Amino acid sequence: MQALILVGGEGTRLRPLTCNMPKSMVPVLNTPFLDHFFHYLAGHGVNNIVLAMGHLSRPIEEYFGDGSRFGIKLTYAVESQPMGTAGAVKNAERFLESSFLVINGDIFTDLDLTAMLDFHEKRRAIVTIALTPVEDPTAYGLIETTSGDKITRFLEKPSWDQVTTNMINAGTYILNKEVLKRIPAGVNHSFERQLFPQLLEAGEPLFAFPSNAYWMDIGTPEKYLKLHRDLMRGEIKGYQVVQGNVVKIGQNCTISPETEIIGPVFIGNNCVINRGVKILGSVVLGDGAYMGEDCIVESSILWSNVRLGSKVTLRECLVANDSLLENNVNAEKTVLGDHVTVSRYSKLGAGTLIWPTAPANPATPGKL
Ligand code: GDD
Ligand code: MG
Repeated sequence: MQALILVGGEGTRLRPLTCNMPKSMVPVLNTPFLDHFFHYLAGHGVNNIVLAMGHLSRPIEEYFGDGSRFGIKLTYAVESQPMGTAGAVKNAERFLESSFLVINGDIFTDLDLTAMLDFHEKRRAIVTIALTPVEDPTAYGLIETTSGDKITRFLEKPSWDQVTTNMINAGTYILNKEVLKRIPAGVNHSFERQLFPQLLEAGEPLFAFPSNAYWMDIGTPEKYLKLHRDLMRGEIKGYQVVQGNVVKIGQNCTISPETEIIGPVFIGNNCVINRGVKILGSVVLGDGAYMGEDCIVESSILWSNVRLGSKVTLRECLVANDSLLENNVNAEKTVLGDHVTVSRYSKLGAGTLIWPTAPANPATPGKL
């Protein structure tokens, strides 16, 4: 089976984390999101993958190359301008087989793709769309169905008074290639707002595949943090990387014995953690993290080379690469981009977002 993954979105709701990094490459437990996803696909026999991309495509190509190092065959279909979800698949038409999966590149799931494919074939569908229940359908594409799983209506990003069901488009489709004939070439086109409603109008067989599998769109900082919490508590089948009260420590780390570390905590390579530090899970420290004395870090994700002075407190924070938080900084529910310096004694309240700055001079990193 072949899969096309849509990775060309701008990731605006995840900024400032995605200012320099495509959403599909943000680290999840210190490994790019797509890397986890390729393992999941391989588990369902999907090794032939097309990436439909535009925005910030270089970091993806540089990391994965032709995919052989990861045991997959990767093909890149690059758009010169965003073509929309359906337009991006049309742009990749020459690489696609007679039927294939299309997956939004910001979904973390353990959906049973093998069962979905079986369903698609048995129903002789031309389009099968995975559905998942959510508490707030207004942020997604609502889909109404008959009791026999035939799709009857699409409503993208409904208002609350339009909500008739909690089942939404889970961003995973199986398509027969013939539907691509209905997508105009060379223009921006949407599955959700154009192609799917048009196929329905034309009386084509569109089926829903509802499931209670784990499902998370990592498109916002809150959900990105929640994904880590769920992963580290072992709540996602097949992804039990760290479980329960476990502290996983990478290579070449220096950790003072006078620290309190309560799992789940995932520590990368080459980290330094000084005396008096408290790390209270769920916490991920990227490679090269440095923590001065008496820091407290709780429920936070730090990317690579983040440095904390002494007495820094972080709660539910996300900190991108190479940032520096000087002594006595106190931050809560804050998201920092790359290369940010936060001056000593700063107090950053919930909802603070700080955009990346250019690296000042990587050879002379700032003082703690
Ligand atoms: N190649 C390419 N080109 N990819 C794109 C483009 C484009 O022009 N626009 C968006 N994408 C990719 C994004 O990178 C993402 O992986 C996927 O398409 C969906 O775009 P989002 O911007 O994340 O959409 P959404 O989350 O608001 O809504 C979509 O996903 C929901 C599930 O998470 C819709 O499909 C909803 O119906 C669905 O419920
Ligand atoms: Mg999304």
